[in-house]
Amino acid sequence: MKRFLDLADFSREEILDLLALARHLEQHPEPRALAGKILGLVFFNPSLRTLASFQVGMMKLGGSSFVITPGQGTWQLESRLGAVMNGAAAEHVREGLPVLASYADALGIRAFAEGKDLRHDLAETNFKAMASVVEKPLINLESAVNHPCQALADWKTLDDIAVPQRAKFVLSWANHPRVTPIAVPAATVHMAAQRGMEVVVLRPEGFALPPEIMDKARAAAAASGGSVRETQDRSEALAGAHVLYAKEWGSTTHYGDSAGDAALRANLADWCVREDWFTGAAADCKFMHCLPVRRNVAVADEVLDGPRSIVLREAHNRLTAQMAVLHRLLA
Ligand code: CP
Repeated sequence: MKRFLDLADFSREEILDLLALARHLEQHPEPRALAGKILGLVFFNPSLRTLASFQVGMMKLGGSSFVITPGQGTWQLESRLGAVMNGAAAEHVREGLPVLASYADALGIRAFAEGKDLRHDLAETNFKAMASVVEKPLINLESAVNHPCQALADWKTLDDIAVPQRAKFVLSWANHPRVTPIAVPAATVHMAAQRGMEVVVLRPEGFALPPEIMDKARAAAAASGGSVRETQDRSEALAGAHVLYAKEWGSTTHYGDSAGDAALRANLADWCVREDWFTGAAADCKFMHCLPVRRNVAVADEVLDGPRSIVLREAHNRLTAQMAVLHRLLA
């Protein structure tokens, strides 16, 4: 494996192999597997889980890492191609990233969507431009419309608690005070489809995932025997559900228009996941969220603190799943 950028780059069987390696490493630690190896982590955006779990993963495998947060103690990096660099950025990623890659054995990059132009973000224009100048093994730490590390950890979490392959998986929009990216919902709907689940995307008017993302998930479902559909009807979506995965994301009909987005979500405060959402779901329906989460805006305390919630297990699996990725890339 040379790159870990998108679960769609791998067959279902290759992902199952990766998850088997993650479980093996959990039971049989290999504290020298990556001795002498160095991972460079470049974060254009904030993180808690991704930042900490990659550093800890490298340490547990005997390697080490360094972290660059451009503009915070290092030069601000420009990523736009053709930019006239007379602003704050002193260096372009076309020099900065190859330099960092030359010090490391692998690089991870987090670069969220610009959130202005949906076409630009769906094409992963910025991330692809950065990836093109890195010749070392590369990991996507969250790009405009993808978060493969989160998706792999979530797949492992579903396996850990023995959620059946064909179980009903509901990805629901959740309320948030601001516009947030579509990377996690895009990665999640694809992951559940590739796992072979019955996937339902539940979202209000104006928040449908783009057809490119839904079509990609439907192609994965066709290959795995799963299915993907969408609805605005909460009780129909949740009927018989085995998993409710909540995520906040921005309006796709008002992409790049924060005032239009805000007007849409002004009446959506009831899209805060509460225990009564689970009426009609399977009795042991689990609740998932990638974190961070705004309590009592996106998800009520009663759900996050209740027995359905497996959000901490998901977050822990960021470490166990990524150790398998690091092992495959570098061991
Ligand atoms: N879920 C996730 O990627 O968390 P961080 O943004 O804290 O890394």
